[in-house]
Amino acid sequence: MRMRAAVLHEQGRPRPYAETCPMTVEEVELDPPGVGELLVEIAGAGLCHSDLSNIEGQRPRPLPIVIGHEGAGIVREVGPEVPGLKVGDHVVFVFVNSCGHCRYCNGGRPNICPSGFSLRATGTLPSGSKRLRWNGQPINHNSGLSLYAEYAVVNHRSVVKIDPDVPLEDAAIMGCAVMTGAGAVFNTAALKPGGQLAVVGLGGVGMNALMAAVIAGAERIVAVDTNAEKLRLAQEWGATDIFQVGRDSVADIRDATDGGLDIVIETAGTIPALETAYAITARGGRTISAGLPNVNSQFSYLHASLVSDERSIQGSYMGSCVPERDIPRLVGLYKRGKLPIQRLRSGFIGLDDLNAGFDKLAEGSVLRQILRPHA
Ligand SMILES: NC(=O)c1ccc[n+]([C@@H]2O[C@H](COP(=O)([O-])OP(=O)(O)OC[C@H]3O[C@@H](n4cnc5c(N)ncnc54)[C@H](O)[C@@H]3O)[C@@H](O)[C@H]2O)c1
Ligand SMILES: [Zn+2]
Ligand SMILES: [Zn+2]
Repeated sequence: MRMRAAVLHEQGRPRPYAETCPMTVEEVELDPPGVGELLVEIAGAGLCHSDLSNIEGQRPRPLPIVIGHEGAGIVREVGPEVPGLKVGDHVVFVFVNSCGHCRYCNGGRPNICPSGFSLRATGTLPSGSKRLRWNGQPINHNSGLSLYAEYAVVNHRSVVKIDPDVPLEDAAIMGCAVMTGAGAVFNTAALKPGGQLAVVGLGGVGMNALMAAVIAGAERIVAVDTNAEKLRLAQEWGATDIFQVGRDSVADIRDATDGGLDIVIETAGTIPALETAYAITARGGRTISAGLPNVNSQFSYLHASLVSDERSIQGSYMGSCVPERDIPRLVGLYKRGKLPIQRLRSGFIGLDDLNAGFDKLAEGSVLRQILRPHA
């Protein structure tokens, strides 16, 4: 079939993207689903900072590519050997396609399955195929997905079915911002009621961590960002303390929190943010990093204090989630009004507005913009 898609031609073009146009909207060919694959009509796709990092060239990707890894849609065609899914089902996309039988999948950690990671380099679906073509040339997929388009052909393990009564424009951010932010609190940190934590970086991911900390019954929730408006929202949504990087120092935060927090989650994706997170972690505490910086960025710390303070530093990828287990749980929290992710929506955009949308994300003036490719 033919459809419209935003094709990323080059990484690293300067801003403003509205003028340099790293992506252009093209008529492309999408092949029908093969074995184990399905065709999904994209209802909504979020603009995540990881997509911005792809545009910036922080992490190399095969080009040309259609990016977009966070979204939801409706199944329109089902290929052979697709268990449990039928035409008309509503689905959330998952940006790590797991094999289901390796040591990590068997160990309950499909989020770090190596097969999902290899797709980033190959630009293929798990079948090894590329289903997208433009002017007769193959186009690369992004993490086995490619959601900045009207439709996507994906492997059935790249989606999780959801209740059809969940608005798809809200479900659109479940697969990345919500799983990553809330999962970092529920799964990676396993925050207990009465516990305390800080979130450093209050974007789409960090705000989900903050809302999850409220649900988990944290007694103290410290929000840290460079942006005053995001701190104001964080306070409205449950932060007990707010600190603005640049105005407040790490010493201020440590003083106000009796030497730092037991758990600090970094969701900004920069080394200065991780340094802040580590510096405001208490003795015996855990620094959990969910931000994704440039692929070559290095973080350093004092070895001796790591040991004598009994600190730990941990990564959190896709919120340590098992998507088939966690997406229904998170949807349940949303439906009961406990996880009001709709408040993170900063408006809808069309395919032609994508470059300008990423300018806004880079400026820090928005939380989650939702692409509606058919609008
Ligand atoms: N681990 C994962 O699985 C995963 C999944 C999705 C996104 N990410 C990464 O998480 C990060 C956040 O994504 P997002 O979409 O929420 O981004 P975003 O751009 O919406 O938010 C980032 C926030 O960090 C703040 N910030 C920047 N520098 C800071 C600093 N030095 N100290 C404190 N705050 C600072 C910004 O003001 C902004 O509010 C990105 O690096 C993204 O690539 C990771
Ligand atoms: Zn993302
Ligand atoms: Zn696996």
